[in-house]
Amino acid sequence: MAQAPAPRTDSPAPAAGAEPPTAGPAAGAGEAGRTRRGLLIGAGLAGAAGLAAACGGGDDAGGAAGGEGSGGGGGEGGAGGGNALARTSEIPVGGGKIFEAEKVVVVQPAQGQFKAYSTACTHKGCPVKKVSGGVIECPCHGSKFKIEDGSVASPPATKPLEEKQINVQGDQITLA
Ligand code: FES
Repeated sequence: MAQAPAPRTDSPAPAAGAEPPTAGPAAGAGEAGRTRRGLLIGAGLAGAAGLAAACGGGDDAGGAAGGEGSGGGGGEGGAGGGNALARTSEIPVGGGKIFEAEKVVVVQPAQGQFKAYSTACTHKGCPVKKVSGGVIECPCHGSKFKIEDGSVASPPATKPLEEKQINVQGDQITLA
C-alpha cells in the first residue's frame, strides 16, 4: 500500500526573508538634505542680512543727500517766491505788467521809475486786466486808471487804485 506522501505545503514564506528596504539610507539622505537645506537657508539669511545692511547704508546716504538737496531748494524757493515779483526788464516804459497771483500791477511811467498798485478795481472790485496807452483798464465796467499815480482816468470808478510798496534792487522788483 503505497501512501502518497503528503505534499509539504509549509514552504517558507518568501516575504519573510525579503525585508522591504528600510528608511535607513533614505533617512540618511533626508538628513543630509535637511542639513544642506539648513546650510542653504542659513547662507540665504546671511546673504539677505548682508543685502539689507548694504541697502540700509545706501538709503541713509541717499536720504541725507536728498535732505540736503531739498533743503537747499526750499531755501532758494523761499527767497525767490517770497516777495520777488519781476525783473525791471519785464516792465515796459510807459506801460506795466499785471501779476494776477500777487494781485499787483507793476508799472513804469518813466524810464527807471517803478510803481505798483493793487489789481482790485475801486469800482466794484474786479481785477484790472490790461495796461495800455498809459492807463490800467478794468474789463468789468471800463474804468481806467493812470499808471503815474493810479488815479481815475475814466469812470465809473471814482477812487484811485491802492498803491503797493515795492523795492527795486538792481534789476529785481520785490514787494516791500
Ligand atoms: S469793477 Fe472795475 S469798472 Fe466796475
